[in-house]
Amino acid sequence: MHARPAAPGGAGPEGPAHVAIIMDGNGRWAERRGAPRTLGHREGVQALKRTVQAAPDFGIRCLTVFGFSTENWRRPVEEVSDLMGLVRAYVSSDLERLEREGVRVRILGRRTGLPADIAGIVVRAEERTAHNDRFRLQVAFNYGGQADLVDAAQALVDRAAREGRFEVAEDDLAAGLSGAGAPPLDLIVRTSGEQRLSNFLLWEAAYAELVFQDVLWPDYGAEALAAAVAEYRRRNRRFGGRPAQPVLAAG
Ligand code: FPP
Repeated sequence: MHARPAAPGGAGPEGPAHVAIIMDGNGRWAERRGAPRTLGHREGVQALKRTVQAAPDFGIRCLTVFGFSTENWRRPVEEVSDLMGLVRAYVSSDLERLEREGVRVRILGRRTGLPADIAGIVVRAEERTAHNDRFRLQVAFNYGGQADLVDAAQALVDRAAREGRFEVAEDDLAAGLSGAGAPPLDLIVRTSGEQRLSNFLLWEAAYAELVFQDVLWPDYGAEALAAAVAEYRRRNRRFGGRPAQPVLAAG
């Protein structure tokens, strides 16, 4: 998962293969219209649909979006239940199409603490699309990057107790993360002008490029994604090396 060659020069015209998006700004989008935040989240779902539709045209094979964080439970109960309702609606209206179009859906994050019907929806979405490999859509839901690392570490502790294996390699930890199996993360986009990770994909972010866009999430779509990809392709990715140097194996 992590052994990547140093890329000489720019990131190249083909990538990014894996893009993660912090879909920020739904509330501000609604407030600017004097509308309830709910409307911003609803329009946010439309933006998500447009973005998933457009992503393969840019060579993107995996899209990971931050739908609901472990910290979002602190929002007023009506907003939380509205977000849950949107997930129900999104899955029931789009699952069949996603399945037909070759999209594999994965839900990242803790399953415990989810309303029972949402937990069922999550399982159904993953099972029905498990055979697909054209495109991978990962929705981080009840997700926190630190919690995900804790869970991966716990799995290693359990393994050590069971099998008496006490050495840990990077790949062991990576294999226990909820997004294991996705291509290495190339690009993280955050909309709305905020510039922080907010506990998203902390491990996976190690060598990802970061792009911050001023657009509010409900206004997102192919055009904004094209701008993020163009910015990514101008970047010079070195993965800790130097572009002109041959890569020497460690050890
Ligand atoms: C941030 O906007 C966005 C969220 C907390 C949730 C993102 C959710 C969706 C786009 C819709 C539901 C998701 C799925 C997967 C169907 P904010 O409310 O923090 O905006 P603000 O910073 O302007 O207040």
